[in-house]
Amino acid sequence: MNLKLMLSASLLMAAFTAFSQSETKEKKPRVKPTRSQSTSASDRVNQRDRPHPLKPARFISEWMTPSSELKFNNLPYAYNALEPVIDSKTVEIHYDKHHRGYYNNFMAAVKGTELEKMPISRIFANISSHSSAVRNNAGGFFNHVLYWQNLSPDGGGEPSGELGKAINSTFGDFKTFSEKFSEAGKSRFGSGWAWLAIDLNTGELFITSTANQDNPLMNTAERRGIPILALDVWEHAYYLNYQNKRADYITAFWKKVNWPDVEAKYNGYKDMREEMKK
Ligand SMILES: [Fe+2]
Repeated sequence: MNLKLMLSASLLMAAFTAFSQSETKEKKPRVKPTRSQSTSASDRVNQRDRPHPLKPARFISEWMTPSSELKFNNLPYAYNALEPVIDSKTVEIHYDKHHRGYYNNFMAAVKGTELEKMPISRIFANISSHSSAVRNNAGGFFNHVLYWQNLSPDGGGEPSGELGKAINSTFGDFKTFSEKFSEAGKSRFGSGWAWLAIDLNTGELFITSTANQDNPLMNTAERRGIPILALDVWEHAYYLNYQNKRADYITAFWKKVNWPDVEAKYNGYKDMREEMKK
């Protein structure tokens, strides 16, 4: 690791210590809920559990290596915490069935292969060489981790700091940015994602969308970048409450965006572009 990256990582860790402390007022042992607990006393269990501390500088490249005991983390909040924007049942099914399924299938797909010891960023960087099972499930696992982290019961408003400045200089203002991002989600045909990402070559912010469980880190992406804000526009993300009205779900989504998390990802990832290309 060169000096720049080391400095970057140190600054990031300091920022995240403060962030984690503001997010987590009481420290309790992490308890992995069983399936039955998750289903029968889901909200109560998730209120007690706290998420894995967010460490973006290590998040993609090191922590997310399947063989290093990659865990299926608890939600950072209760199933009902995002209501009325996203209803409790949708969050429960989305997290405990869909997301967990991608995790389990991803771990099964890489078991016993060289991918097991590979950071997920490297798997994405060569995704065109891997099976559709790896592509769909690695993407499905990773994308949903971002999605849950990008949301918060106390979300909404507008970003500040370096991210706020970068959004304004890139898109003109926040309103223009949010309209373009929303349009990327609305116009994605079928199932997929809208993203705000950092361009791997230029470091600029850009909006894009991908089909299925693809993401901008994959070498198949139209424009490659490090995603910092994810919007899931699969029907399973909104259908119980919004039925066919994807646009209404997207409008409501902004009320729960966790801008401190998105900004921390921006600050943490913007100096890691070279590493992510490999
Ligand atoms: Fe999803």
